[in-house]
Amino acid sequence: MINVALPKGRLGEKVYATFERAGYECPAIKEVNRKLVFENAEKGVRYFWVKPSDVSIYVERGAADIGVCGKDILAEYSPDVYELLDLKTGVCRMAVAAKKDFYDDRASTLKVATKFVNIAKNYYAGKGREIDVIHLNGSIELAPILGLSDVIVDIVETGTTLKENDLDVVETIMPISARLIANKASFKFKTAEIEKLTEKVGALID
Ligand code: PRP
Repeated sequence: MINVALPKGRLGEKVYATFERAGYECPAIKEVNRKLVFENAEKGVRYFWVKPSDVSIYVERGAADIGVCGKDILAEYSPDVYELLDLKTGVCRMAVAAKKDFYDDRASTLKVATKFVNIAKNYYAGKGREIDVIHLNGSIELAPILGLSDVIVDIVETGTTLKENDLDVVETIMPISARLIANKASFKFKTAEIEKLTEKVGALID
């Protein structure tokens, strides 16, 4: 049995559809209820709906053998897991954004608001730029508008949130997409099953 942690929401549903096409269907998952665990014993697969940012925790600790999570989470938390496949969905980018009149005065410490503290710190350390990180949990775009920060480091997908708040991308830090990840011990003990699933799912990705 392979235990799969899927991110709850639109991305997870899209990824499940790919798993289904790859031969790992689990019809019970389509029933409208609030269950979180679904199993198809015949196909040897069990799915869990997990909060997207928690998928890597379930996988790293072996509560799930494999899972689907964004590259942003992998870059931010560096979980000790194997990255098996780029699923090429949930595509967006991690970017620095600021108000349109932003000017980077390198004489002073740059105030950076973000949910992704480690990504921001690593990025600016690589540029030798001193920063003051302000850790927020959401609506990051508000920070430069209210003068809480000079810039933000956040996910940009369509760019609509930035546009509607009169902010612009200053620099792109990295491209993001959903990845198939595996627990290291599970991969060792269930190599054949996990490799077969990876191959079948991978064949459906362009
Ligand atoms: C994310 C991100 C941006 C927005 C970008 O927020 O933090 O705010 O999506 O998408 P766009 O470029 O298509 O507008 P999310 O919806 O995850 O909510 P959050 O405010 O809790 O971060």
